[in-house]
Amino acid sequence: MDRPHNALNNNVPSAGVCGKTPFGEVMAVYMLAGAMMLWLISGISAPAIAADVDAGKQIARQHCTRCHVVGDMNKYGGIGSTPSFGAIKTMADWKERFEIFFILPPHPAVVNVEGVTEERPESLPAFVKPITLSVDEVENLLAFIDQLPAAKF
Ligand code: HEC
Repeated sequence: MDRPHNALNNNVPSAGVCGKTPFGEVMAVYMLAGAMMLWLISGISAPAIAADVDAGKQIARQHCTRCHVVGDMNKYGGIGSTPSFGAIKTMADWKERFEIFFILPPHPAVVNVEGVTEERPESLPAFVKPITLSVDEVENLLAFIDQLPAAKF
């Protein structure tokens, strides 16, 4: 019955070292575990802290102003049939709309969020220059839109 035990012990050359593990090594393991816990906790709250309004503004300027009027960036720009961000923000559910804008038409044909949206098949080429965003960039974009004022009509 104790054969597996023996076999196990024989296969672990450092087994003998365990008995005299120095205190420091044990502490190091505890400290590593603690550091990993901290890292985990900070990782969970990271998106809220890390979202960068200025970076989001640049993304909006670079990509969204092609069609939308965004704040006072391009008051007389945008495409006629496209709502301004200020107008969208007057809607009760503006937040949800922005959070999933990339699946709301016409964006799926233009916007690709890495690791989230499906790659467009090559047989369906984008009708305009495609926009590729990372999840972090979408977070930054949302942080920027969050502090953008709603339009006053
Ligand atoms: C190619 C032009 C184009 C680009 C680029 C574009 N949009 Fe839009 N967007 C539209 C049009 C057109 C509509 C209106 C769709 C409708 O009324 O059904 C719209 C609507 C929206 C809406 C409201 C969606 C709804 O159904 O209520 C949101 C939110 C939005 N866009 C976010 C963005 C963001 C964020 C960007 C930049 C990353 C962006 N859009 C880039 C054309 C564009």
